[in-house]
Amino acid sequence: MTRKRIAILISGRGSNLPALFRADLGGDIVAIGSNKADAKGLDLARDAGIPTFVVSHKAFATREAFDAAMVDELNRHRPDLVVLSGFMRILTPVFVDAFADRLVNVHPSLLPSYPGLDTHRKVIDEGVKIAGCTVHFVNGELDGGPIIAQAAVNVEEDDTPQMLQQKVLAQENQILPYAVRLFCDNRLQINGKRVRVLPVAAPA
Ligand code: GAR
Repeated sequence: MTRKRIAILISGRGSNLPALFRADLGGDIVAIGSNKADAKGLDLARDAGIPTFVVSHKAFATREAFDAAMVDELNRHRPDLVVLSGFMRILTPVFVDAFADRLVNVHPSLLPSYPGLDTHRKVIDEGVKIAGCTVHFVNGELDGGPIIAQAAVNVEEDDTPQMLQQKVLAQENQILPYAVRLFCDNRLQINGKRVRVLPVAAPA
């Protein structure tokens, strides 16, 4: 089986990058890109010797024009899989359709609860007792694509959004590499809204 080529997009710290670098993904991270030149995570990528690129959204008049430029830049690296890890852009069909069924995102809530931003503050304000994170395929619906993996954490009485964010991130660090590995091993089968995780193939 040929190893999959993985591209990652970030907008900020790249909080999941160290976990992705450490993990045995069954594929190779070939590039890490950002819409922000000052994204701290790009330094982590450079330190790891991984090629980086920046396509600034500010250089484009429309979301579609930015997405088209980002698709072109990604395609230069011939990715089999594109991973959004803290990539804080709303994507248009120009982007989503270019990587249909090979585009995944990590989101800091138990989807379909709490799509969008500010999830930890909302969870605490609404008295929710269990929070978590989700890795899902990306489709045209915001944070609405087929779910690959989730992990839960307890919300304690005195948790602040920052404390909850750290607990959830520790779980993201587990399930994102796990989901990428499943993709690289061809073990994910999308059936409508559901993702079936296929058993490990028996050796030939
Ligand atoms: C992660 O918690 C991820 O779930 C979240 O951003 C964080 C990573 O960003 N993504 C989203 O909220 C996407 N809607 P960072 O690497 O800048 O810390």
